[in-house]
Amino acid sequence: MDNPDVLAWRDGHIEALDQTALPHQVRVLRIDTVDRLVQAITSLAIRGAPLLGAAGALGVALAARQGQAEGWDDARLDAEIGRIAAARPTAVNLSREVKAVAALIPDGTQAVEAAALAVLQSAAEVSHQISLRGAAYLVEACGRGPLRVHTHCNTGSLACLGWGTALGVIRALHADGALSHVIVDETRPLLQGARLTCWELDQLGIEHRLVSDGAAPFLISQGLADAVVVGADRIAANGDVANKIGTYGLALAARKAGIPFLVAAPESTIDEATAAGAAIPLEQRAAEEITVPAAPVGTKALNFAFDITPADLVSAIVTEKRLIQNFRR
Ligand code: MRU
Repeated sequence: MDNPDVLAWRDGHIEALDQTALPHQVRVLRIDTVDRLVQAITSLAIRGAPLLGAAGALGVALAARQGQAEGWDDARLDAEIGRIAAARPTAVNLSREVKAVAALIPDGTQAVEAAALAVLQSAAEVSHQISLRGAAYLVEACGRGPLRVHTHCNTGSLACLGWGTALGVIRALHADGALSHVIVDETRPLLQGARLTCWELDQLGIEHRLVSDGAAPFLISQGLADAVVVGADRIAANGDVANKIGTYGLALAARKAGIPFLVAAPESTIDEATAAGAAIPLEQRAAEEITVPAAPVGTKALNFAFDITPADLVSAIVTEKRLIQNFRR
């Protein structure tokens, strides 16, 4: 079954696969205003750091067209573009790509659209380079296996376009005959692992087992995984990694079990302007994502969407350009 494009620019508007409806419904959103784009980003219909970067870039083109149609002045256009950049705080790719494309507004709509499309078009090749480099690292570190790889959240084509980052590494191992199966965390509270990663692995015919997040560190301690590979939303200058809540626990378990903990991410996720993990803004989301439907009405919750894994727990970071070990330690 051919799926619609995860993200596309069509006749002056954005089309995006609604990731809140997956895996049970394949629904395409037609996004023709900044309001709708911000809604799609904050509701996680569009999600995953690299995809947020591409959507942000297209968002500038969308804002430029909407501004022309509705007669916005420069201040209004800046404000609307600012809303897109700030829609979610942790994934640096979003604000980074928005700022880069917005800098071309003085050159006109065509220049803006060309730059936005370039972000979209380069994403698949970036994913592929990360996938091959990461698989080579794991075979080097663990042998040809076949490997049992543990992963968290969703880092495939839905989050990145192309093969993906961490899921791309897994796909490259599979293509190389070096993969036994994948252990997938459900990834509460929005279940990106259960809903999206299992859906992608099904489509790829890659053997996998879904586990509850709480089980993951114990399963690693029992020797059920040869390596852990995850994505990232922001990597600080000292190598600290922000990723989906639950990642830190996997890093601790991997260290204790003596298995590699690999972070796969594009160069655009490395934020040299942020010195260390403590300075990375961590999104906190609505309590209801955790409390509904299980907890009594009115139960308070702490809903951090991301956590920080300190650099010293990361075996290596793989990007489309390089393999980084001992990040500035
Ligand atoms: O809240 P989400 O679903 O946008 O979080 C996504 C993640 O944490 C991913 O691991 C990260 O963005 C990397 S995607 C390649």
